[in-house]
Amino acid sequence: MIKIDYIDESFDKVKADFEVIFVIKEDLSHRFIDKDDFKLCQDFKNPNLLLVEKKRLYIALEELNLDSIRVGVFKAIKALKNLKIKSFKIHSYLTEQDELTFVAYAEGALFGAYEFDLYKSEKSKLNLSNIYICKDEFNNRAIDSKMAKAALKKGEIMASSANFAKDRVNEIPNSYTPEKMANDAKEVAKRYKEIECVIHDKEFLQKENMNAFLAVNRSSANPPYLIHLIYKPKEAKKRVIFVGKGLTYDSGGLSLKPSNYMVTMKSDKSGAMAAMAIVEGACKLKLPFEIHAILGATENMIGGNSYKPDDVLISRSKTTIEVRNTDAEGRLVLADCLSYAQDFKPDILIDLATLTGACVVGLGEYTAGIMGNNAKLKEKFKALSKDSGELYTILEFNPYLKELIKSNVADISNTSSSSYGGAITAGLFLERFIKKEYKDCWIHLDIAGPAYLEKAWGYNSFGASGAGVRACLYFLDELKKEL
Ligand code: BES
Ligand code: ZN
Ligand code: ZN
Repeated sequence: MIKIDYIDESFDKVKADFEVIFVIKEDLSHRFIDKDDFKLCQDFKNPNLLLVEKKRLYIALEELNLDSIRVGVFKAIKALKNLKIKSFKIHSYLTEQDELTFVAYAEGALFGAYEFDLYKSEKSKLNLSNIYICKDEFNNRAIDSKMAKAALKKGEIMASSANFAKDRVNEIPNSYTPEKMANDAKEVAKRYKEIECVIHDKEFLQKENMNAFLAVNRSSANPPYLIHLIYKPKEAKKRVIFVGKGLTYDSGGLSLKPSNYMVTMKSDKSGAMAAMAIVEGACKLKLPFEIHAILGATENMIGGNSYKPDDVLISRSKTTIEVRNTDAEGRLVLADCLSYAQDFKPDILIDLATLTGACVVGLGEYTAGIMGNNAKLKEKFKALSKDSGELYTILEFNPYLKELIKSNVADISNTSSSSYGGAITAGLFLERFIKKEYKDCWIHLDIAGPAYLEKAWGYNSFGASGAGVRACLYFLDELKKEL
């Protein structure tokens, strides 16, 4: 574990094994910079300069904002991780948001130290154990030490929640089954008295007529689970329900994925893992909301008992669904889970899902899509989650796209009749399962792009990113100010 602290002392007085200095906007004239170190350099376009003998590392930041702080600390850890040093010190670089600056420092540190090496014979060992942020500020601003320390704690919660999700999304499908997910949920509930966990098995799903969910599971050797986590603080002002797509593996089913698209489909549980992490994170942050996570956990496999294109499924809400593609399974699981979630009368209902390849094609790998009926709620989510650094774009519904999921044999088709607009038609499919009274309190987050990285970017390592976790926690943390 890496520890990051604020020390109410000047940089020169703080003892550490190494120094890290940010060069902001290529400005080498700043007082934090030793001019001698750059004697041979014309500029500082190089992302970093490691002076081992001077025990000093310079990192270039193009801007001074929350994300560049995260990236800067992340890069410092990566650059120093093979040295035999236990600590480094760094100045304070305040953005326009003092508190969030320190939150960002901690996030950068925990993300920099994150590694998933469970299946590597040689584990990477991080010698670094301490980072000290000193009181000298880049623009000579004064720092409230109490605020800084509390903000670092908050940042640690934000980042460790995201890392909690990452660890589970990165886990492999031969070990991380729906049962394992259920056990993880039970473990979370064991750790906190404010969190309760209810695990529903296949019989319960049958009793509840969750036939869309059950169809997806049909040819899997591993049974499905509906996992329900509830965080109930003493005084809760609102009930927020997160529904997560928990496909521990998506082979596509009979509409089998081509082999190169199947690789990475262990990450199809990212929505569920994010929702689980949000409940734990909210509890650690002591947020004043009652928060539920309802996770639909199953695999989408192939076999003699598979559900088929041409099948018609009678969902929990009685809406009949024509299956035209068994790879559009996430919406089937979510349809029943969303129906179930509304029984608990949410004030806000948010589903998180790696739902469509179309969302990745449309928005790129870095950005998630926000969909829903309520323009204000969509805008609000986007605005209040913005400081997390996670990227979101609103994808608008329209009545013409709705036409594309009409079915000739059932109430709705699970596949659009057009190959365009697939992220929105999937969102519109889910919308069909939202009751009138909840239409305005629901948003759908398609995190298919950012949930799993095949190439690292920013402060995200290869593999799972924890997409949705910090965005939702930042959203709730801001929302509480409106109570
Ligand atoms: N899990 C996939 C979506 C996905 C694709 C997530 C790429 C992450 C990266 C989903 O179940 C799926 O296969 N969707 C289909 C829907 C189509 C058959 C209507 C898709 O997007 O191709
Ligand atoms: Zn699929
Ligand atoms: Zn899927």
